[in-house]
Amino acid sequence: MKPDSGISVMITGTGAAVPDRVLTNRELEKTLDTTGHWIVQRTGIQERRIAGGRTATFHLAAAAAGRALRDARVAPEEVDLILVATSTPDQFTVPTAGLVQEALGADRAAAFDLSAACAGFPYGLATGAQFIRAGVYRTVLVVGAEIFSRIVNWRDRSTAILFGDGAGAVVLRPASSGALWYSHLGADGRGADILKVPAGGSRLLASEETVRQGLQYIHMNGREVFKFGVRVMEEELRLAMEQCGLYPEQIDLFVPHQANLRMIETAVERLGLPRDRVYVNIQRYGNTSAASIPIALDEAARCGCLAPGSVVAMVGFGAGLTWGTCLATYRSAAG
Ligand code: UT7
Repeated sequence: MKPDSGISVMITGTGAAVPDRVLTNRELEKTLDTTGHWIVQRTGIQERRIAGGRTATFHLAAAAAGRALRDARVAPEEVDLILVATSTPDQFTVPTAGLVQEALGADRAAAFDLSAACAGFPYGLATGAQFIRAGVYRTVLVVGAEIFSRIVNWRDRSTAILFGDGAGAVVLRPASSGALWYSHLGADGRGADILKVPAGGSRLLASEETVRQGLQYIHMNGREVFKFGVRVMEEELRLAMEQCGLYPEQIDLFVPHQANLRMIETAVERLGLPRDRVYVNIQRYGNTSAASIPIALDEAARCGCLAPGSVVAMVGFGAGLTWGTCLATYRSAAG
């Protein structure tokens, strides 16, 4: 999407919600053949949040969405559309977004889920923005929410150390003139096998046999995902800057998908972005998939790393393979 076509869009509020329970590397050392040193050195992760048994994805999603609405000073009745990006929905049907709508009391809103794995949030931003740009809707809630701890094999050290639970949300609204909005999405189905949950869908229904083989859990070729993620972050952000006519120093904050600190550092170094313009919180939450960018965005807003009028760049990537980029203005500098 070119930045200068039609009505523009802006992020007017953010919110996040993570479970209270902290799972440290030290705890993982007791159950897995790993060390805290290895995890920090190879991923940057020190701890992650894990949802309790009674918490479903929609609980975290609704909490984050409610906070984003309050931050944007928008009443639930004003919301036109709720989009929940998730790979860990509450159930196959109903959509998690419908449960969020009910929890918020956003009675006028349409609601649906979006499945694009760890790229779900940029996919959600692009989709929500289209409704605003087309003049169809005025207020769109985009939520990324996951309880990945339910699809992680806690005996597999190559994945169990990586993931965590949480949700983040933003409110999108039409922008005053001068606001930047750019989004670009991509996919490559040839890479479907490097990151997947093999069973539990129509292709391979859950059965005693699939459970015995652990096929309900995430399976990943970490090295291949690593190379793909670094390449996508670099290429996509380069393309975005070129399309928007921006230099790296004109990006106020880069909020990448929090998959691995080494991946982020490699991409940032290749792009020549100043390190203090890159928001990283993977050390505290691990990889929360579709929730990672909006959780980081909300933290950045709360700690003053984003100011009204800031240009924020976001790149997500994940299973599918999928990837998505968004450059947006955070609030209006005019207030
Ligand atoms: O949102 C997208 C989802 N996923 C990702 O972005 C993941 C991207 N990939 C990664 O983050 C990294 O590939 C990992 C952190 C998963 C793995 O790090 P790596 O440096 O790529 O390790 P590797 O897979 O090349 O494995 C190196 C060694 C292996 O041992 P051998 O074969 O050399 O003896 C692994 O068995 O490290 C071993 N290993 C571990 N050792 C201690 C793998 N996991 C662990 C572990 N603790 N937790």
